[in-house]
Amino acid sequence: MDLSQFGSNIKLKWLDFNIYQNEIIGLRRKIFVESQGISENALQDERDFDGFHLGAFDSDELISIISIYVYKPTDKLVEKWELPIINDKLIIRLTKRAELPSYKGSRLAEFIATYAWKAIVDIVKPQCACLSLLVEHKKLSLYYTSFGFKYHKEIISETENLTIFIQDENQIRNSYLKIRQYVDVLYAYLKITPPSLVNYLEINDEHNVLDKDNIKHENVYLEKLSFKDELPRLLGQARLLQIAQDEIIKTVNIPVTEGQFLDIGCGPGVYAASLSKNPRYEKFKFTGVDISPEMISYAKLSYRNIAWHQRDVYETGFEDNTFDIVHSSFLFIHLLTPEIAIKEIYRILKKGGILYVVDVNDATFMGPNIISRMIQKHSQFYEGDRKILNILPELAQRNLFKYIDNKHITVNNLGSEDNPERIGNILKLGKVTLWAMFSFINQRKDIQEYYQKAEKFYFSNDCEISIQIQTQIFEKL
Ligand SMILES: C[S@@+](CC[C@H](N)C(=O)[O-])C[C@H]1O[C@@H](n2cnc3c(N)ncnc32)[C@H](O)[C@@H]1O
Repeated sequence: MDLSQFGSNIKLKWLDFNIYQNEIIGLRRKIFVESQGISENALQDERDFDGFHLGAFDSDELISIISIYVYKPTDKLVEKWELPIINDKLIIRLTKRAELPSYKGSRLAEFIATYAWKAIVDIVKPQCACLSLLVEHKKLSLYYTSFGFKYHKEIISETENLTIFIQDENQIRNSYLKIRQYVDVLYAYLKITPPSLVNYLEINDEHNVLDKDNIKHENVYLEKLSFKDELPRLLGQARLLQIAQDEIIKTVNIPVTEGQFLDIGCGPGVYAASLSKNPRYEKFKFTGVDISPEMISYAKLSYRNIAWHQRDVYETGFEDNTFDIVHSSFLFIHLLTPEIAIKEIYRILKKGGILYVVDVNDATFMGPNIISRMIQKHSQFYEGDRKILNILPELAQRNLFKYIDNKHITVNNLGSEDNPERIGNILKLGKVTLWAMFSFINQRKDIQEYYQKAEKFYFSNDCEISIQIQTQIFEKL
């Protein structure tokens, strides 16, 4: 079934059970009791009131739903199902997926289920995911095992026989990448914008499920890439950034001529230090923040005119309305939950203040197939989102930023090694120099094979490659 026949009336919404109880129970009744003959026990769960429910409405009718409950390791269900817990992180349970039969084949239920699952994993970072299926639901069990769920145990009771499936933290991590791709594919197919879970939590004051410590610990810079390997690349990148940004910086309207400037995700500080000497920003007081202690130590030793702090973009510790400009270069692609960062930046910016984001966008890569494939594979395995700038405007606007501008520079490999040259919005680098900007891919075991093949091809053929560095500018209204 093609969803387009339903027109654009389909809307997705996170539902507060206190408000939508009748609609949710009504849909479950139609599907579980009236259509599948399951007992009335399936209609409600004690966790419904604090559960997460993602629903799809066609006009005003609820047509599809999934519910996800979040448990602490000490909760009764964890003991009853003998879930494998090894730390005090939370556990999630996917449950009660229901859809009106007339929408079968539309892929809406799959979209809702995978999107909700991804959104919850993004913010909760659970140590275990679980679900129960009626023993006779063989097809569904195949579906979930294809997403990395493993058989755990059977629970036989007077009313029903359940099979429990689980994923441990590693399995969650692996299947997360698959779910993410699946969500992208379904999103492209259905073209329905899913609602933000972070916003829903904020409106409902449910910040307690956000595990900011965990979000920090997943930072690729603290775990997967070594400071020693990254430093030379970042130093080179910062110098190229100066050449690329020189013209753009001049054209950005800034609210004041003196004030507070924050560079967030500043790395070794080279670029922030060069900005602080730019005549436009000479009268600003500069602060640099990065989560990596090594980066901050390097910056502190190298540039003493700037206040450097080891802090996290999700929780900067600055007062509300502190900064006139928040700048970030090559940070957003790394973030696992960029919307929390956007909210934090909004909080610390003054009214009328500017958020200036520079990042690469893998969606703009052009080159031979073998290299494009490496870039795509890397994007798929990448913990953050290397195409984040495609969605940042929407994300920022729904968090009350005004989208001011988007500029880009196309960086290609047609220049000389010694002398990077900028002509209009083209930056020409040498063949080796541009390739060096991708060298970090070789550090990722999952894609080393793709990298090495692409590298061999690149250096044994005359080929042009290019990618855009995009600059997006937002204003806090
Ligand atoms: C590619 S580097 C960019 C450094 C610098 N902005 C530049 O353009 O040269 C990304 C930086 O973001 C930092 N970073 C990643 N996640 C962060 C977080 N949650 N909070 C603060 N910094 C973070 C990393 O430690 C790293 O130094």
